[in-house]
Parts: sequence; C-alpha cells; structure tokens
Amino acid sequence: MKISGATKVYGIFGHPVSHSFSPAMHNAAFEALGLDCVYVAFDVQPKDLEASAGALRTMSVAGINVTVPHKESVIPFLDTVSQEAELVGAVNTVKNDGGVLKGYNTDVGGFLRALKEDIGCEPGGMRVALLGAGGAARAVLTALCMNGAREINVINRTVAKAQGLADEFQNSFEQIVINAHGLANADSVESCLAGADLLVNCTSAGMKGVESLALPLEALGSETLVYDLVYNPLETELVAAARRRGNLAETGLSMLLYQGAESFEIWTGARAPVEVMKQALSF
Ligand code: ATR
Repeated sequence: MKISGATKVYGIFGHPVSHSFSPAMHNAAFEALGLDCVYVAFDVQPKDLEASAGALRTMSVAGINVTVPHKESVIPFLDTVSQEAELVGAVNTVKNDGGVLKGYNTDVGGFLRALKEDIGCEPGGMRVALLGAGGAARAVLTALCMNGAREINVINRTVAKAQGLADEFQNSFEQIVINAHGLANADSVESCLAGADLLVNCTSAGMKGVESLALPLEALGSETLVYDLVYNPLETELVAAARRRGNLAETGLSMLLYQGAESFEIWTGARAPVEVMKQALSF
C-alpha cells in the first residue's frame, strides 16, 4: 500500500478495537480498486468520544465504522442519521461529507443481504423466531420490520427486555404481529420454533467460550431457515444441529462482510469488491 500526501483516511472507533476484522477487509478493498485510501483502528475511550467525533471534521477523516461501545452514544455528535439507524438506535457507519457527519446503520442491509445470498431468504411474509433483545437484535428486528415480515416472536433470557423491544417496534409497525417470550418458558419457545419460517440467533450464546442455548430444535419444520449472527466458531452448535436435521443454516460472517461492503459503498460510491473482502476475512 502506498501512502501519499492525498491519501484519504478511514477507520473504526471502538474500545477495545485491536481484534477488529474491518481494517483487513477495507484495506484489501481499497487496494483492489486502486483507491488512495487507508483504514485504521482508533481505540477511543467512552470519555473521549465527543472529542474524537469532532476530530473527524477538524482532521478531515473521510469516514469511520463505529463499534462497541460507541454505536448508540455517537448519535448526538452526528449531523444526520439515516432512517434505519434511527430505528435501530445505533450507528455503525459515519461518512464525513465536507464536514457534515452522516450516520448510517449497515448492519440492517448487511443482515438482509446475508439472508438472501446465504440461505435464499426474503423475509417478506415470514414468521420469525428472533433470539435476543440487545443491540444486534435491534438491527435484525429493524431489517425484518422494514421488509415486511408477517409475525416476529422475540425470545430473550430477560423477558422484560424482549417485551420492551416488542412494544417499541409494535408501535412503529402496527401491521406486523410482534410478541415477546421468555427463554425459560419451554412451551412458548417450542411453539415459536414450530411456527417459524426463519429462526435467527442474535444472542451471544454459542460464541467461542460461551455456552449455546438449549433449544427444542426438534420442533422446527423441515423448511425453517436458520441464521446465527455468531461467526466464531464458523460453524456454531446451533447451525451444526440445524444442518444435521436437514435445515438450511448459516453463521454470521457473511453479515460482517456485507455490512462492510455497504459501508464501503456509502464512503466511496464504488461497488464493493465483495470477493476480495471475503478473502481478507479468510473464510
Ligand atoms: P449485542 O450488541 O451483541 O446484541 P448485547 O446488547 O449485550 O450484545 O445483547 C446480548 C444478548 O444476548 C441479550 O439478548 C442477552 O440476553 P439478556 O438480555 O437476558 O442479557 C443475550 N445473551 C447473552 N448471553 C446469553 C446466554 N448465556 N444465554 C442467553 N442469552 C444470552
């Protein structure tokens, strides 16, 4: 990579951030398209977020991704926020448009594209069982609601969080049936799974070092599609078990890829070289 006096700087704000796959993915993409751009990781502490967001303007940083723990708290420091990001309540991509900081959430589009490309899923008209009620669940719920899902059952360990999320989205999307359930209620979990066209895991359960959820997968129909946002390990216990039953199932590395591709396109206006970016994630 050649750095010149005119090299545009992109990056990611997170804390911690050194584990991020995004620098490898975006630098590979810049190189493949011959763009004079570089992408670096900025470890930004929560107390420094406002000053760091301001520095994007003063130092003409062209764009950033935003990750844990800043996705929600960055919003007050931006000039505009997209409809998706507003609904999710979180921004993962900022474009510096001549000093105007524009916020987006590409997890929404990244999830939809991953569903389509990996398991041939278009959520319009579908009944969905959604596990989790944290930040990732909000992005998935936004994607499903904005794309015409028919019924969504939010299932969470802490049922009050599922209820809060369901109520909030029900207010904005009256035509969709959105209900909340506790993970500990075996009967309702079983009936949610039995009636689902799509099962999505948005909890961190099943991540390397975190126990998987004990789910009654035998209740799933043979056509039910399964998507697990967890991507480490590359085949989670949930996906392995679903595949053993013959269900089409995929883990979440492709969502990481496609959210990155959408960020890249927002920043550069060029079509993201998805194959190159995929290779940089080495899967
Ligand atoms: P993220 O931004 O990845 O969504 P988060 O906002 O911290 O992270 O949300 C984590 C989600 O995973 C929550 O739904 C959490 O359930 P609670 O709301 O009950 O905490 C869920 N989760 C994490 N570990 C879990 C486990 N071991 N069993 C069940 N649910 C778990």
